[in-house]
Amino acid sequence: MRKGTRSVSFTLNGEKKTFATRPDEKLLDLLRREGYRGSKYGCGQGTCGACTVIMDGRAVYGCLLYAMQAEGREIRTIESVGTFERPGEVQNELAAAGAVQCGYCIPGIVMSATALMESEKDLSDEIAREYMDGNLCRCTGYEKIWLALRRVFDRRAGGSPAPGRSGKGAKK
Ligand code: FES
Ligand code: FES
Repeated sequence: MRKGTRSVSFTLNGEKKTFATRPDEKLLDLLRREGYRGSKYGCGQGTCGACTVIMDGRAVYGCLLYAMQAEGREIRTIESVGTFERPGEVQNELAAAGAVQCGYCIPGIVMSATALMESEKDLSDEIAREYMDGNLCRCTGYEKIWLALRRVFDRRAGGSPAPGRSGKGAKK
């Protein structure tokens, strides 16, 4: 191992993995270097959410965490959610709603929505909007994104989807 190089072990998308890293390497950089390129680099300072991954059930910014902080944790990336051929539920709804323009923000939005659905039963507008507030989109105006997420959240809650529910005020 080269001087200054460390190893870090964690569960990645259900598999135990060990990677070489450096003390100053960010988790996002390690993931992308190792081929998990679905997570995106946007602002690099915890503002845009493009880099969102799930760590031990919580949505986190991969650009802020050091790779070493993933030691022993369970990390999930967008690659665990669905593929182009077999998209996951959130991805399907986003596509069906026409909510994807450039697509750069979408992996982060999918990961935040996934963490929210898995951890929270009360997916009221207030809670969901606050949780999703850490994911910015520069293209869409959020209306269609919100409509798609709301449909998934309503289905998960056991209710029927709420057609026509607008995403007014979903983001600044
Ligand atoms: S790249 Fe991590 S929050 Fe923007
Ligand atoms: S679709 Fe382009 S940033 Fe969201």
